[in-house]
Amino acid sequence: MRKKIRRAFFSAVLLGSLLTSSGCGFFADTVVETASTEEEKDLIEVGFSQVGSESVWRTANTESIQNALTRENGFFLIFKNGRQKQENQIKAIRSFIAQRVDYIVLSPVTEEGWDTVLEEAKEAGIPVIIADRMVSVADDSLYTAYVGTDKREEGRKAGLWLESYLKKHNKEDEEVRILVLKGTEGSSAQLGRTMGFDEIADQHDNWTILAQETGDFTTSKGREVMKKLLATYPDFDVLVSQNDDMTFGAIDALESAGITTGISGDVVVISFDAVSEALRLVSEGVINVDVECNPEQGEMIAQVIKALENGEEVEKTNIVEENVFTIGNVGAYLNDRTY
Ligand code: AHR
Repeated sequence: MRKKIRRAFFSAVLLGSLLTSSGCGFFADTVVETASTEEEKDLIEVGFSQVGSESVWRTANTESIQNALTRENGFFLIFKNGRQKQENQIKAIRSFIAQRVDYIVLSPVTEEGWDTVLEEAKEAGIPVIIADRMVSVADDSLYTAYVGTDKREEGRKAGLWLESYLKKHNKEDEEVRILVLKGTEGSSAQLGRTMGFDEIADQHDNWTILAQETGDFTTSKGREVMKKLLATYPDFDVLVSQNDDMTFGAIDALESAGITTGISGDVVVISFDAVSEALRLVSEGVINVDVECNPEQGEMIAQVIKALENGEEVEKTNIVEENVFTIGNVGAYLNDRTY
């Protein structure tokens, strides 16, 4: 019963402050439910700080977590959208600590700068699950487990695909000029994919990365940056775009400049995420390869929390399954993709 009263109290306080600060009601991206029934005292209270809503992938990731941490499954979820700002995420974590939630799930916008707030969570005795992207902290006991993807491996897969593509087309000794559209600077999606791809690129003296610019994982920025890069580098062979949203924008910009992409195009396109619209473009030969970043992490997060509740040991690193899509295998996946 204590928990129920505490939850209702904090929800009321939080709701009050949101109404005050927004002037007219809830922020659409902050979901604070009010405990009202007897059974709610038994629910596991989880505060989830999400990066933002920058991409199709991110929306799918949010939905996966919201669909797994439901009341029916025994959870009471408080969702906060960080809107790409670390300060918003730190504020959210502090509010979860003040509410004395049972668990915190953090999908961090960038890797650095979390030590202090995670120390505060640890002192409050609240286990933290890091989701999707990673944190770089001096003491890894500041989080209990990571659930997400291996971003460096994704970058390596992209590089290895290019290596075998060039071989297959007898171009392995030709000069290969590469442009890279990076994601949010300092995020593990950007750092890992860059590191993994560079690891393979470094093994090929004939691969030249002409430029790497950030497109912030958004379509509009992808379009804008691609246009800008084209002004300096009109001749290139490969575009590596670190997510599908940027790829959509970049393809627009390339088309407007009269440059074709994909299997029989002027430029090879390597993308990441594998959302349904991108898989359609893979099936049409417009994108050559899409390295999957699996957003469906909710079930695994729920399992980790349930295991902790049962007093079981959990793996520190929990990686979801991922695939690589080309025109050769994408057909089997097109109809099933829901995001
Ligand atoms: O951290 C995962 C990345 O973030 C996805 O590749 C991207 O689409 C998202 O915004």
